[in-house]
Amino acid sequence: MIFFVKDTALNTLKTDLLVLTVDSKITFKPKMKIFNSQTNGLLKKTIARDNFKGELGETMFFSHLPGAPAERVLLVGIGDQKKLTSKAFMKLISTIVKQASGHKIENLALDVVDLAIAVSRDMSEKIGMIVSSFYESNYNFNEQKNHEVKASHQFKKITLLTESKSNFSEIKNLIKRFSGINQGVNLAKNLANRSANVCTPRHLASEARKIGKKSDKLTIKVIEEKEMLQLGMGSFLAVAKGSTEPAKFIIANYKGANKNKKPVVLIGKGVTFDSGGISLKPGAGMDEMKYDMGGAASVLGCVEALAVLEPKINVVALIPATENMPDGKAIKPGDIVKSMSGKTIEILNTDAEGRLILCDALTYCSRFNPDCVIDVATLTGACVVALGKHATGLLSNHDDFADEILKAGEKAHDRAWQLPLWDEYRAQLNSPFADIANVGGRFAGTITAAIFLSAFAENYKWAHLDIAGTAWHSGALKGATGRPVPLLMEFLLRRATGSK
Ligand code: BES
Ligand code: MN
Ligand code: ZN
Repeated sequence: MIFFVKDTALNTLKTDLLVLTVDSKITFKPKMKIFNSQTNGLLKKTIARDNFKGELGETMFFSHLPGAPAERVLLVGIGDQKKLTSKAFMKLISTIVKQASGHKIENLALDVVDLAIAVSRDMSEKIGMIVSSFYESNYNFNEQKNHEVKASHQFKKITLLTESKSNFSEIKNLIKRFSGINQGVNLAKNLANRSANVCTPRHLASEARKIGKKSDKLTIKVIEEKEMLQLGMGSFLAVAKGSTEPAKFIIANYKGANKNKKPVVLIGKGVTFDSGGISLKPGAGMDEMKYDMGGAASVLGCVEALAVLEPKINVVALIPATENMPDGKAIKPGDIVKSMSGKTIEILNTDAEGRLILCDALTYCSRFNPDCVIDVATLTGACVVALGKHATGLLSNHDDFADEILKAGEKAHDRAWQLPLWDEYRAQLNSPFADIANVGGRFAGTITAAIFLSAFAENYKWAHLDIAGTAWHSGALKGATGRPVPLLMEFLLRRATGSK
């Protein structure tokens, strides 16, 4: 799929579908006015005849307008121009995508980028929504089906029409930026959708190596179990013990800025299948635990986007990857292990494995002297209960840092919501036998999980994103969402350009 930006006259535009927008006052923009008279005034006449009101999402199709080289023209209402919020703009775009894909259109041109979004008036937000919506529509996951898959509809060429050339270069840059981000989103979706017998820790490592070839600024290193043992990653290795698949600790080092600049560290939970271990999960829906590497998938998605876009920033991505399986060798409830930090952990529930692998990554990352650290994990079912599938849970030891992440999420339409990390919750993790327990009882499960992690992230600015609810769609249309790649990339690219 390719995006173009053009300011050509509408009556010279050859396309399968020309999309024109009109508000509830039926205001015609300059180019549309001319186009209307070139097409015998048919647009205006039909609007009047069929009582088209220009309400948000209202549509009207024209075929073979005399004087227009476009095969079809789709008129779409935007409602009251002053009330065109970014939410309304999103609805407008999804209406266009739905209509165009319903008519199996491959090439289309649309006149939406000049529309002023109420409050923000931000070109980046508009191009972000447009590019992401077409990518989303084009995405499918059929690689593991053997029978012939009916070629699903694909958009090929999207032309963004503007009234003037004045912001061409801005729009072109934004198209590049959001295409790169969506390439990362697609990579994250593919990894999380792939079945767990294929998408193993080894597979994640080899996918990371593939991404590594895409940019000179990127180096990939994979630490094997033997070296983990030398490093003292006792907590991570404890989880890996129950699996016959060797664990991998993947490091992607992206150097886009001066080498003295402190990196942002991203850590992604890479549990390629979470059976619960000896604290076995119930059978129903266990298949979905293949997406328990959604954090790793989104972090690798960001690495992909970084390799494509090559922004001026330093980023280190760390992925502890393992399965969580029941076995004669597996950890048992009550086992006490020593983490890389030296802290001992009483494992009361082997299904709280995410925090056990993340804590060693949080200790390991200190050696990069990070500016800040964000871990991303499908960590708790409690987060799905608290926030559902709309917001990612955010917990942090630094409020300004948390605000920066929340803002990036708002901007990228990939929102997070902060939960408290108060000391009062700490007592829930007291253990009579070890320094800390790995579970904190029935209440506030998302918070106690983050409290556990915070004990290993004391020396730097740190935030934790719980994506258990946002990384995956359940139900009939189950599948990965690619979140929170848009949030993370917005965060990173803002830092890269200093527009914090
Ligand atoms: N991977 C799960 C969390 C999860 C649940 C992700 C549902 C996506 C959807 C995690 O490892 C887990 O099992 N957490 C336990 C923690 C509990 C034992 C304290 C949970 O949420 O039940
Ligand atoms: Mn678990
Ligand atoms: Zn898990």
